[in-house]
Amino acid sequence: MNFPIIAPSVLSADFANLGRDVEMINNSQADWFHVDVMDGVFVPNISFGFPVIKSIQNLAKKPLDVHLMIVQPERYIKEFKAVGAEILSVHYEACTHLHRTLHAIKEEGMKAGIAINPHTPISLLKDVIRDTDLVCMMSVNPGFGGQKFIEQTYQKCKELRHMIDESGSSCLIEIDGGVNAQTAPLLLAAGAHVLVAGNYVFGSKNPSETIASLKNLQANTTTVA
Ligand code: DX5
Ligand code: ZN
Repeated sequence: MNFPIIAPSVLSADFANLGRDVEMINNSQADWFHVDVMDGVFVPNISFGFPVIKSIQNLAKKPLDVHLMIVQPERYIKEFKAVGAEILSVHYEACTHLHRTLHAIKEEGMKAGIAINPHTPISLLKDVIRDTDLVCMMSVNPGFGGQKFIEQTYQKCKELRHMIDESGSSCLIEIDGGVNAQTAPLLLAAGAHVLVAGNYVFGSKNPSETIASLKNLQANTTTVA
């Protein structure tokens, strides 16, 4: 894999011109589509559901990385597979039987991710780190694009990278929220593999160039202390 992996967040796209924005991502140096699903219960916002994701899949030439900010995500695993999810992340805080849910996602042939809120300590992941393909570490409180980055994330990222390297797991660290030219290099130095960016990409004059500027940052693929 060619790190860093860049995953523009479709949440910040122009939904009246979604096809155009999907094509922009197809033609850019982005690696994945980050697709945020919100139910108005787990987070105080509602985004979009299956028909919109299916429309994205019909045009997308890159994997869909679907981030579920919903309660009881285990109820919809097959449905998200059917609309094209290749990576499916569920929130630690939304799963009573997280281990079972991760394996149910894998049984459907998807990569399984765990998303964690800013208040959730890394230490809670110890017993599932070998069962997960990706940890989506929230660097804002989930629910909205364009929020301020929480600085504590750098330390948590180092801690998580240490846990992954120690465990021998090949789990990737994805950072979601407030990624921009200032935060991205520091996140890569702290051991992040995947950068999600919404507002920074779609709020810029030239989204494709902004994606390239993130992609061309130096990834730190060695162990961090
Ligand atoms: C927040 C979402 C993010 C969001 C990131 O709840 O999970 O993926 O789109 O947006 P920015 O990059 O604007 O902070
Ligand atoms: Zn997200």
